[in-house]
Amino acid sequence: MAYNIKVTKVSESKLQNLDFDNIPFGRVFSDHMFIADYIDGKWTNIEIKPYQDMQISPANSALHYGQSIFEGMKATKTVDGNPVFLRPELHAERFANSAKRMCMQPVPTDLFLQAIHTLVDLDKAWIPPREGSALYLRPLLFAMDSFLGVRPSDSYRFMLITGPVGPYYAKPVRLLAQEEYIRAAVGGVGEAKTAGNYAASLLPATKAIDAGYDQVLWLDGIEKKYVQEVGTMNIFFNINGTLITPETDGAILKGITRKCVLELLDDTDISVEVRQIDINEIIEHHKNGNLLEVFGVGTAAVVSEVSHLSYRDSHLDIPNVGKDNNVAKMIKSMIEDLRTGKTEDKNGWLVPVDSKTELV
Ligand code: COI
Repeated sequence: MAYNIKVTKVSESKLQNLDFDNIPFGRVFSDHMFIADYIDGKWTNIEIKPYQDMQISPANSALHYGQSIFEGMKATKTVDGNPVFLRPELHAERFANSAKRMCMQPVPTDLFLQAIHTLVDLDKAWIPPREGSALYLRPLLFAMDSFLGVRPSDSYRFMLITGPVGPYYAKPVRLLAQEEYIRAAVGGVGEAKTAGNYAASLLPATKAIDAGYDQVLWLDGIEKKYVQEVGTMNIFFNINGTLITPETDGAILKGITRKCVLELLDDTDISVEVRQIDINEIIEHHKNGNLLEVFGVGTAAVVSEVSHLSYRDSHLDIPNVGKDNNVAKMIKSMIEDLRTGKTEDKNGWLVPVDSKTELV
């Protein structure tokens, strides 16, 4: 169904203040934002308006009990200048699945898609023209009841904000695999893109940063030895030319970039194994000279190489990091060439931003 979106435009764009060559991740927001409220069983107050602060009740139940989820996705321009999304329907689906896990009202796919198309069409001048940069979209959904009882909220707010971004990690990352804290266990909420997962990662990440690392490599919550993910990205290991990545078991985020990478690799000669990976196996492969590369993949991170991995008293420098012809670079180019239309979109993953949306 098509929703009526009330649109109020900015009187003057902030775009002329932007230096496209120097965009910090997540600090610059485009001119407009999208809002819709779920009240009394229906989506209402659907509008696009200038990006601005909003009022929230101090008793807002998302603030107290954490019914809050989000997505991360990107709009880019092809070499012909056409704005496109990559597999937006997968983001709509994951957003709905996160909502269901957190006992929230899922946003209907058609509302999600209409929101991203209408907002990005309006703010398309904010899509950076540089390769490797993009307009980052942050859909979010949170509880809106003003009530301190612990129960699912009856009302929700769906919002979409966007902002131009460069690479999330400016250089290869140093990871610490640690056992003191866990990110998620099977049966928990590790697969949902919910705010609390990220809050829970902050103390371990801060400790890792203080110890000279950039991020934590999470291990499973029970045996504390099976590799999960990095928290900002899914992880891949290149063992003697075979790529291995953990299978998603309910405790790992089902990364959309991970899915795209696995499907793109199907069309190459590179062999791939999706399976449980014991961190001790990685240490062994490094000792034997078989661990060639480690890299993470994610919407924000795209493909980010890992330069170092520590676990207990093993400190592994990753041999092929930064090398011109490594697999991480090849995969990164595959994704970027697809997004920019430099290679043929054989699978029909690119969706042009709809510029014919009727603005009410
Ligand atoms: C993304 O890759 O879009 C994420 O959501 C990860 C992170 C920046 C929170």
